[in-house]
Amino acid sequence: MAEHSCDLLIVGGGGAGLRASIAAAEARPGLNIAVVSKVYPMRSHTVAAEGGAAAVIKPDDSAEAHAYDTVSGGDWLSDQDAVEAFVEEAPREMVQLEHWGCPWSREPTGRVAVRPFGGMKVQRTWFAADKTGFHMLHALFQTSLKYKAVKRFDEWFVTKLLVDNGRCLGVVAIELATGQIHSITAKAVMLCTGGCGKIFPFTTNANIKNGDGMALAYRAGAPLKDMEFVQYHPTGLPATGILITEAARSEGGWLVNKDGYRYLQDYDLGTPEPKPVLRSMELGPRDRLSQAFIGEQEKGHTLEGPYGHYVNLDIRQVGEKVIDKRLPFVRELCLKYANLDPVKEMIPVRPVVHYMMGGVHTDINGATPLAGLYAAGEVACVSLNGANRLGSNSLTECLVFGARAGRAAAEFASQSGSVGASVGAQVRDEERRLQEDLLGATDGTDRIATLRDEMQTTMEESAGIYRVGVTLDSAAETMCHLRQRARRLKLDDRSQTFNTELVSALELGYMLDLAEVILRSAAQRTESRGAHQRTDYPDRDDERFLAHSLVHRRADGSARIEYLPVTITKWPPGDRVYGR
Ligand code: FUM
Repeated sequence: MAEHSCDLLIVGGGGAGLRASIAAAEARPGLNIAVVSKVYPMRSHTVAAEGGAAAVIKPDDSAEAHAYDTVSGGDWLSDQDAVEAFVEEAPREMVQLEHWGCPWSREPTGRVAVRPFGGMKVQRTWFAADKTGFHMLHALFQTSLKYKAVKRFDEWFVTKLLVDNGRCLGVVAIELATGQIHSITAKAVMLCTGGCGKIFPFTTNANIKNGDGMALAYRAGAPLKDMEFVQYHPTGLPATGILITEAARSEGGWLVNKDGYRYLQDYDLGTPEPKPVLRSMELGPRDRLSQAFIGEQEKGHTLEGPYGHYVNLDIRQVGEKVIDKRLPFVRELCLKYANLDPVKEMIPVRPVVHYMMGGVHTDINGATPLAGLYAAGEVACVSLNGANRLGSNSLTECLVFGARAGRAAAEFASQSGSVGASVGAQVRDEERRLQEDLLGATDGTDRIATLRDEMQTTMEESAGIYRVGVTLDSAAETMCHLRQRARRLKLDDRSQTFNTELVSALELGYMLDLAEVILRSAAQRTESRGAHQRTDYPDRDDERFLAHSLVHRRADGSARIEYLPVTITKWPPGDRVYGR
């Protein structure tokens, strides 16, 4: 066991984590800052983001309009103080990123170009072709290298948060290259580990997105908020779940059913007109578009392939020149993973799990109720996104709330005394759990893959685009049993060097905790709102559920749910309306 200490420890080296590290280093130059990441930072999932990042820039736009679209798109579950802070600070963050080297796409005049995105009434999505996440992450990474105060621990996997006397004091982590176990104590800890899409079988999320930070916080006593809201993106490639960006529709792509018909015109997407406007209907909110897919499937209007039902995304009318300039990655992905050229052929797509609206409960500065613990990015629920996130708000969220939380955590750390040796017993217990209970166990029975498959199938069947109470309840019981079985895993790999089997076992534990939280909170929310659609309770119920769910973990591992009112500042609940 090796011991380290720092002032601020950031877990996760993606968009939010790197932005936080820069903000903290600038706000408090004297602090020692550690960034611990289970992958090399440029492999964080931010790199996979495609379509763009939203912020007001055009004269026909305003912070007020961006805020309203976000609140209405989120079906009034967003905390409006968080939304107002977000829209105010977003443009500054985007310009800052340009100064750090992010090559935003330009108009012929040289001005920053913006594209329309789902649920936004005006064009405000900045982009770097369709590799926006790559360029943003690259700019953040190279900027973070300038700060000597930031020390990186790449390919270290955090297994536990150290908590004493109601305060978070550091982590235990495995150095993956050697298998050595380390404790890192810190005056403040910040989680930036992203979401947990891998709980579901079909997702745009990378294999690394197992909800590590959410589960670490939950186990350490911080509540999880709004976990029932799981976003399906309407267009994933059927075999792999690879994202075909919404930008393909914003550049003029159409969604057509098996008869080549633009079926969205038959659905209520929330447009003011009785029927969606043909020119903009493909840019309805993601929840409504995913629900429309199910509608087509039920009418028998979808196609069926080896990976289930699908519809087609047609971007041929966009033309090769625009595709190569603004959607080169879409073309590359289709050629490599679907063996088709979207310049000449239609792209098969189906809804795919993409994003968690819920996460670790924080205030608008990223502070959780557990003193010394902060969170930002997809792992956190501020709550900006409410019941349904608008496409392109999340990259900006990583910047705005990564920076805010980085500054707040730095301030907390700079005002705290040094961390004593009070966590020594916890560290030894964790080392024993990893070495003896997991790596050393010889009586295991269940395989990781068996339990993971069962979890994913159960989640898709019970917590998908439409849900019903009885199925949610029985799935939650299934998850409880899977959690018991996961205590007796059969592992074969006893090696110390990059033991990916051990990491998968720990990740499975994280996911099972979160899967049960998602199911229990979905079962208890007896209304339909945004991405949470209950066929047994089809209406939104503001009387009872204009409220965030907060799930606390009891000592026996079971979930206790309470509700917290939504913060309304300017926009009382109304109908969701979009369209230009
Ligand atoms: O479709 C996309 O490019 C996704 C963007 C987002 O989730 O914000």
